[in-house]
Amino acid sequence: MDFYLDTANIEEIKRINRLGLVDGVTTNPSIIAKENRDFKETIKEICELVDGPVSAEVIGLTVEEMVAEARDIATWASNVVVKIPMTEAGLEAVNILSKEGIKTNVTLIFSVSQGLMAAKAGATYVSPFVGRIDDIGEDGLELIQNLKTTLQNYHFNTKIITASIRTINHLEKAAIAGAHIATIPGSLLPKLWKHPLTDNGIEQFLADWESVPK
Ligand code: E4P
Repeated sequence: MDFYLDTANIEEIKRINRLGLVDGVTTNPSIIAKENRDFKETIKEICELVDGPVSAEVIGLTVEEMVAEARDIATWASNVVVKIPMTEAGLEAVNILSKEGIKTNVTLIFSVSQGLMAAKAGATYVSPFVGRIDDIGEDGLELIQNLKTTLQNYHFNTKIITASIRTINHLEKAAIAGAHIATIPGSLLPKLWKHPLTDNGIEQFLADWESVPK
C-alpha cells in the first residue's frame, strides 16, 4: 500500500519523508488555505520534496474552467496530479485531460457508481472519503471494499486513494480491502506507529538494564 500525506505543510512532509513513508501528497483547497501562502508556490515546493504524485485541486466548476486550470497545473511539475471534483462537468474534463495524458484524481467520491463513472471517464485516481461517509452514519470502509471489487471486476487501471482517513481502523481496514493508496493526515501518522505496550516495554527494559553489573 502506498502512503500519501494529506497535507500542504512543508515541515510535516519533510519530517515524515525522513522516515521513508511518503509515496505522494494530496491537497485540497481547505488544506492549502491552512498554510496561508501562494498555491502554485506551495505545490511546486512539495513536488520538489516528494518523488511521487502530488494532487492539486482545480477551483472552477465548468468544463472549460477545469480544463484550463488543469492544463496550467500540469505544467508546474512532472509529478503533479490534477484533482477534479466528481460532477458531470468534472467527468467531461477528466475525459478530455486523460486523452492529453494529464493525470487526474477525481475527488469527493461517496458511492460505487461515482467511482465507476470516474474510472470509465479516464481518471488515474479516485478518492472515496471514508471519514465523511462515517460522519453521516454510513459505512465508509464498505465503500472501499465494494469499489475495489468493482474496479477489479472490470480491470480498470484507476487506483483508489482512500481519503478522509480519521482513525487507525480506517487505515488498517482500507489496507485489508486492498485499496492501492491511503492518504493520511499528519496528525494521525504517529498513532500508526505508536503502541502503549511498545513504550512500556522500552521503559521496562531500561529499568532492568540498571541492575546489570557494569
Ligand atoms: C484528500 O484527498 C481529501 O481531500 C481529504 O482526505 C479530505 O479529508 P477530510 O474529510 O478530513 O477533510
